[in-house]
Amino acid sequence: MSTSPTPPPGCPAHGVGPEGLRRLYGPEAEADPMGLYEKLRAEHGQVAPVLLQGDLPAWLVLGHRENLDVARTPSRFSRDSRRWRDMREGRVGPEHPLTPVAAWQPVCNFVDGADHERLRAAVTDSINRFDRRGIRRYVTRFANQLIDEFAGAGQADLVSRFAEHLPMLVMTQLLGMPESYGPRLVEAARDMIKGTETAVASNEFVMQTLQQLVERKRATPGHDFTTWLLEHRSALTDDEAIQHLRVVLIAAFETTANLIANTVLMVVTDRRFRASLSGGHMTLPDALEQVLWDEPPFTTILGRWATGDTELGGQRIKEGDMLLLGLAAGNVDPEIRPDLTQPVHGNRSHLAFSGGPHECPGQDVGRAIADTGIDTLLARLPDIQLAVAEPDIPYRSSLMSRHMVELPVRFTPKPSMPAQTASSELPAPRRSEPLPEAAGPRPPAAVPAAEAKRRSGTWWRRWFSGH
Ligand code: HEM
Repeated sequence: MSTSPTPPPGCPAHGVGPEGLRRLYGPEAEADPMGLYEKLRAEHGQVAPVLLQGDLPAWLVLGHRENLDVARTPSRFSRDSRRWRDMREGRVGPEHPLTPVAAWQPVCNFVDGADHERLRAAVTDSINRFDRRGIRRYVTRFANQLIDEFAGAGQADLVSRFAEHLPMLVMTQLLGMPESYGPRLVEAARDMIKGTETAVASNEFVMQTLQQLVERKRATPGHDFTTWLLEHRSALTDDEAIQHLRVVLIAAFETTANLIANTVLMVVTDRRFRASLSGGHMTLPDALEQVLWDEPPFTTILGRWATGDTELGGQRIKEGDMLLLGLAAGNVDPEIRPDLTQPVHGNRSHLAFSGGPHECPGQDVGRAIADTGIDTLLARLPDIQLAVAEPDIPYRSSLMSRHMVELPVRFTPKPSMPAQTASSELPAPRRSEPLPEAAGPRPPAAVPAAEAKRRSGTWWRRWFSGH
């Protein structure tokens, strides 16, 4: 009898499944997703057959050009998951791990054509009404507040103390929520995404907060995203508005947090940036674009579904097949980047925000939060450096993302900014009228883990957790 610890081929711990196809899930894939993409590229070219959870077949698009082809031609590759053959034929039941991320929902990221145009126009037109300088003022103010909380200590984990909080604090302000809701929403959204025991209650807290926000803005319009969404000519129902507020909050939160953490890491460790930043050749926006090429916050996007039999990258795709946009793999496609050590010098033709009709409408907001936030951090703590060796920085990978878990740094302790200086230098953000605490949603209460897992099956949670 063999005593080998090697799992049998049917076991998901194995990187190779039935018919010799590689699994895009499980320990091997999570340990080194970029290494796996390169193996797939070597074996299959720019479009590779892979297995997803439950060994469901899919195509991973690895080529830069092929990713853009898919993203830009919804007539061949639809965003509507109701076309997925495996789901139509009952192989993806309610308990399947991909159901939360793939089950169709009436939001802009699951529809094409006129329906998409209507919903997306409401989102993009409302985002575009923001004055970019106004956004930067909020970012500076919240970044200073967060830095004040740890500046005196001489050390901090910048993921949990800075990167994870800044985007949500800014988004609550842009959405027109009371400032006091920022920290609670950060906690709730983190909790919801991480699928902890209180995930269901956290999701309900977010939903109640958004519902209350919509009611208030219908009654008393303001100068904010929520009001503009409600007033938009697309005439969203309250339910559509709430769903899209949630899409925006979740789409903005973890992606931007990831971008901040990875850019800080690059700025403090990468000699190209250190030398260039001090020498004035490399700007922070350049560093951001480099990270968007090398560590895109979404490594893949699930998904697109073939509207008919077609061909892509030499592979025969069948009607109803699922495709994943391989954003991280496309960004290192040797056809466009033969030498990965060459800096990209601010080139924006990466795939981090995808392309075509669904291209991320919030990219300038994400960039502004990351850029201004890091600028503020480096101005306040100029000698910031890593407190651990770079290889010891923990990451967590899933099907759609690879994100930093902790970023321990140290620096010369600095006093907090005097409140007077802070408030006189930084314009106070416009505050919404505070919600009466008693009427506000209550903080999430614990629910059993199994129940949380069953009930919190929402598409965005799986974007990040991947389980
Ligand atoms: C660095 C930060 C961000 C990254 C890397 C990012 C990336 C992406 C990607 C890859 C998509 C999917 C596109 C597709 O399906 O092909 C997307 C969609 C979307 N993002 Fe972002 N995003 C970021 C920040 C934001 C922010 C700040 C907002 C809102 C202010 C936002 C709002 C959205 C929305 C509404 C969609 C759905 C668009 C549609 O389906 O038409 N994102 N984002």
